[in-house]
Amino acid sequence: MEFGVWTKGLATLAVDCLVLGVFEEGELSGEARAVDSACDGHLKRLLGRGDFVGRPGETLLVGDVPGLKASRVLLTGLGTKKHFQRKAWRRACQAALAVLARTRIVSCAIAIDRPEAKQLDDYYLGRQVAELSGAALYRVNDLKTAKKAPAPSLKKVLAGPVRKPGAAQRGLKEGAAIAAAQTIQRDLANLPANVCTPLYLAEEARALAKRHAGLRAKVLDEAAIRRERMGCLLAVSQGSRQPPRFIVLEYQGAAKGQAPVVLVGKGVTFDSGGISLKDPPGMDEMKFDMSGAAAVIASLTLVAQLRLRLNVVGLVAAVENMPGGRAVKPGDIATSASGQTVEILNTDAEGRLILCDALHYARRFHPAAVIDIATLTGACVVALGHLHAGVMGNDDKLIQELVAAGTRAEDRCWQLPLSEEYAEALKSNFADFANVGGRDGGAIIAAAYLAKFTQGLKWAHLDVAGTAYQSGAQKGSTGRPTPLLADFLIQRATH
Ligand code: BES
Ligand code: MN
Ligand code: ZN
Repeated sequence: MEFGVWTKGLATLAVDCLVLGVFEEGELSGEARAVDSACDGHLKRLLGRGDFVGRPGETLLVGDVPGLKASRVLLTGLGTKKHFQRKAWRRACQAALAVLARTRIVSCAIAIDRPEAKQLDDYYLGRQVAELSGAALYRVNDLKTAKKAPAPSLKKVLAGPVRKPGAAQRGLKEGAAIAAAQTIQRDLANLPANVCTPLYLAEEARALAKRHAGLRAKVLDEAAIRRERMGCLLAVSQGSRQPPRFIVLEYQGAAKGQAPVVLVGKGVTFDSGGISLKDPPGMDEMKFDMSGAAAVIASLTLVAQLRLRLNVVGLVAAVENMPGGRAVKPGDIATSASGQTVEILNTDAEGRLILCDALHYARRFHPAAVIDIATLTGACVVALGHLHAGVMGNDDKLIQELVAAGTRAEDRCWQLPLSEEYAEALKSNFADFANVGGRDGGAIIAAAYLAKFTQGLKWAHLDVAGTAYQSGAQKGSTGRPTPLLADFLIQRATH
């Protein structure tokens, strides 16, 4: 895929298709008006017939518009002028790219009018165009045997209008890297759990590290994990025939002494619930329970690709959670790497068990910040639905940084309160604490559990159970929160 910016002369631009915006009143946007005068009012006459009214999401592909070098024009609805903001621009761009991806069009110029610069500056315009192009061209890595539909033809996208081409170019470049990282995350998460095992994740991490200069991978096998005394991680893993792996990805983009950002991913390649077995409906979706791990692996390829001036470490705890004769049982007590003992009252609360040992491992890097990413609780989905991820932690500045990154990246998260009282739900008669509390406030209680392992660290926790994948007809990985993490890391590297 090739990206660039156009600066002027839309009518003489040598591309297959011009993408133009139309407001809901059937009014051509400014860029479209300029094109319309070059084609003698052809577009205006078209709209006069009332076949296209400019509603959000509406598109119309028109061939052979006279007076233009481009062989086609694609009209995309902008909604009402009054409500034309970043969201409406994005929707129009998305709708247009979806159409383009279904055609034989190879090159296009996006010439949708844009909202005010404070809504969408040149950098983010470029980034969004590249990210949305990547999403539109994504094809699920299915294992269907029928002949695959031909790959989309689109190879070249020009973005505009822009005032600062340099900023837009940088946005396009970084957006393309984010899209590539999202594809890595989605492909990993969409794989079935019989393919994507802990071993597979480790091999993929190794392979990606080989392909990206500056990225190093180290993999701890079961014996090495035992030497790290990760008793909670091992308790989850012990019921499975698949051995666990602990993956360490390191990227050095700044001075060796500079404290790194450590990302920690939940990599449960299948979460059956263990002895606290889940209900059958939707259980297949627990193959997505390694989405946090996939996002961490993807984000490390991204920082390496962009050569960010930052040190970043990715930690992935990869296990399978299964019932069986050797499986951990409710009431069993495990000793975490931190030395604290945990009464495992529910074997389905396995994510926090593997994360607590991974978070403890993060200490050796003396990190500037630790962020864990996990499909951790159904309660988070109940609380926030599928638009916002939950964010909690022990450092408000870090949390605000993540919230802001999510807003800029259109990959939002929302802070849930995490005060000390929530940990009272974890009281145990037999161990330092239990791995579950009550049902109420479950997303926060899970974070309260993790907080017991992150004292003295600047730590934030992203619960992406509701945002990392979709159910139903569109079932599949969304590639979130890679855009959020990318924005956070780019911001840290450049400020
Ligand atoms: N992987 C699940 C959380 C989850 C649920 C992710 C739904 C995506 C969609 C996690 O391991 C889990 O089972 N959590 C339990 C915790 C409970 C036992 C305290 C849950 O949310 O029910
Ligand atoms: Mn579970
Ligand atoms: Zn889980």
